[in-house]
Amino acid sequence: MEIHNPQATGTPLINGPRLSDRHREMARIGGTANGGVNRQALTPEDTQGRHRLLEWATARGYTAGIDPIGNLFIRRAGTRADLSPVMTGSHLDSQPTGGKYDGVYGVLAGLEVLETLDDHNVVTERPIELVVWMNEEGSRFGPVTMGSAVAAGAVPLERALAANDAKGVSVSEALARQIAELPPMERRPLGATGHAYIEAHIEQGPVLEQEARGIGVVSAIQGLHLYQVEVRGFEAHAGTTPSRHRKDALVAANALIAKLRAEVADPADVLRFTVGRFEVSPGSPHIVPGKVTFSIDLRHPDPEHLLCTGDRILELCSGEIEHCMVSANVVLRSTPVQFDARLVTAVRHAAEHRGLRYMSMVSGATHDAKYMADRTPSAMIFVPSEKGISHNELEHTDDEDLIAGAQILCDALLAAATMEL
Ligand code: GLV
Ligand code: MN
Ligand code: MN
Repeated sequence: MEIHNPQATGTPLINGPRLSDRHREMARIGGTANGGVNRQALTPEDTQGRHRLLEWATARGYTAGIDPIGNLFIRRAGTRADLSPVMTGSHLDSQPTGGKYDGVYGVLAGLEVLETLDDHNVVTERPIELVVWMNEEGSRFGPVTMGSAVAAGAVPLERALAANDAKGVSVSEALARQIAELPPMERRPLGATGHAYIEAHIEQGPVLEQEARGIGVVSAIQGLHLYQVEVRGFEAHAGTTPSRHRKDALVAANALIAKLRAEVADPADVLRFTVGRFEVSPGSPHIVPGKVTFSIDLRHPDPEHLLCTGDRILELCSGEIEHCMVSANVVLRSTPVQFDARLVTAVRHAAEHRGLRYMSMVSGATHDAKYMADRTPSAMIFVPSEKGISHNELEHTDDEDLIAGAQILCDALLAAATMEL
């Protein structure tokens, strides 16, 4: 997508080749054989990614800080230190079989904006701040969007620090290790807020590509519920135990999931229901499974509908099924969020002024902007994902789309910097 009207907005043109080079370099950190990345939160790869970003930032004279949950802040000073910053950002952590753009794009596009302002000697009154949120993906440690949720007070710091990965390593230990390996930097308190927050991200779905649009002007994020279900049976000998004597937790879990799927069937295909983690215990081929645990990720843009469906799921996940006992608990109930109308308009205007094809849309994925929006006027910009593929090593976005989105980010951040909000 070609960017038109370079002068029309009075804002500078970003350096597209630099943005592309930085994506290539970041993709090598935790790069996988299948062309994706595995750079899960607080792993050595995540630390290396943050290291590289800090090198780029300090070479430009930006200052860095970190808060108690590991959110990283990179600040380009304005002329008025007393004014709150205009903020942008996203995350560098990935899914275990993640793509090269989910999260990284918003971070590198944000850095590109800061550097573009320097290249063109643009002076702002407000500081411009880039945030790298800690553990957006929630794959190594739950819950998803951990750093921004803790910063917003939606998840207590102590609970997040105590979360363990599959090997029993806590966030607290892994974060201490990461901080020791990063260059020393200012310790920031939790609860960062700003004058405005605009996050750029790949769409992670097929809509922009199908509609032949280069820019998504994101007006809202749909709600997300996460449940953990436990099915308890009784471990028994696989060779000697007749069917009628079995309390097979796997048989019960399968029946339960089939029942849940029938319950949430949505002819309009708006409701999203996913069982993404499923663990059978003790996991021996020769033992009738005594326990199964699984996750349910449930999403919908309408808060009432999401809540009713979530409550119905909790009802179905209690009591007895196939001679096993079922229970469920709520891990996360994140309500849908509407973005700030003035900032959404600023993003749309930027796309119009640059002559880019855009459309208004609701985000199907959740993002750190969800928690920023509670405290700071916020908005998001999407760029297309090829074939809608994401959370997959094949994730791809063309360089020209990445560049166009970063340009809109630059224009919209500069507009926000002088807006009354
Ligand atoms: C974010 O990674 C999501 O799953 O929506
Ligand atoms: Mn993401
Ligand atoms: Mn993701």
